[in-house]
Amino acid sequence: MTQTVTLIEGDGIGPEVTASAVRVLEASGAKLDWERHVAGIEALEKYGDPLPQAILESIQRNRVALKGPVTTPVGEGFRSVNVQLRKELGLFANLRPVKTLPNVPSRFQDVDLVIVRENTEGLYSGIEHQIVDGVVESIKIITRDASRRIARFAFDYARANGRSRVTAVHKANIMKLSDGLFLECCREVSEEYDDIGFDESIIDALCMQLVLRPEGYDVLVLPNLYGDIVSDLAAGLVGGLGVTPGANLGEGLAVFEAVHGSAPDIAGQNLANPSAIIQSGVLMLEHLGLRDEAGRVLAALHAVLASGVRTGDLGGTASTSEFTDALLRAMEAG
Ligand code: NAI
Repeated sequence: MTQTVTLIEGDGIGPEVTASAVRVLEASGAKLDWERHVAGIEALEKYGDPLPQAILESIQRNRVALKGPVTTPVGEGFRSVNVQLRKELGLFANLRPVKTLPNVPSRFQDVDLVIVRENTEGLYSGIEHQIVDGVVESIKIITRDASRRIARFAFDYARANGRSRVTAVHKANIMKLSDGLFLECCREVSEEYDDIGFDESIIDALCMQLVLRPEGYDVLVLPNLYGDIVSDLAAGLVGGLGVTPGANLGEGLAVFEAVHGSAPDIAGQNLANPSAIIQSGVLMLEHLGLRDEAGRVLAALHAVLASGVRTGDLGGTASTSEFTDALLRAMEAG
């Protein structure tokens, strides 16, 4: 059966890396039909809206999207398309698998963990006000519903993907009510999953442990702000943003994207590393139940990196298209 996927190329290096991902995913044997949309500055110029309604409708119809990075103007200009997309579609879970890749320079060789970040509340509720000049207040919202929902997502993900343990990350010793509620919800949900282990870690202790022995962790579930920070820290454990995939998931909806931005400094020069969005595409294939096709892409990526073909960000000399061609050859050979 052919699966229709909403494709948002993005801007900056977005069109280069998404074009590479489309070629590679199609070569996996997956039957994909792409519904292309523009977002960000191009959509603003064409349709007067950086996130046109047609994109939201397309994702709601297809249930699955692959998205390149979209530039957010600093200061003046429109709100982040990424944040808006998450809000409009109720994409409550941010998923970031972080795994060592062969031949990618990094400090560790055996990292294999998954970060599950609550995407809708916490300190990102955006409720801030000034009490008097020089004193501001920022409100952190934690709800039982959203905390239980993300905990359940983490345990379901663990079960579906052969993972054995979920660690709840918090600072409930200080934020006894807010993080206390998050932790309590994780504990309650953990009791529904006899087959998955559960433990807890205070955020600061976790950060130290992650940079000492990241191989000790499996699935981490975190409130919004901690999840944001720890997921970039974790990307750094395996070689950085150029190689780390991600997904934002809601009830029956999934948007797969690389975690890096539009990299304006190298845009249009055929220099970008497409590995992150290709791995996001692998997550997409897995989500669609296309495990063999996903495995084929991943095997090719490992083989090409192991053979020493790398883009400039990883210390190599391959261009985006040379790297993509090498992947296609590896898939043909495999
Ligand atoms: P960035 O991730 O675009 O770039 C940071 C550095 O990493 C740059 O030196 C860049 O050349 C390099 N880099 C990033 N991805 C790469 C790749 N695939 N291959 C090789 N090198 C790569 O972060 P920055 O500069 O903070 O953001 C640029 C724009 O992207 C901003 O407008 C930001 O708002 C937007 N952005 C969009 C995201 C999204 O759409 N999901 C996520 C993050 C940022």
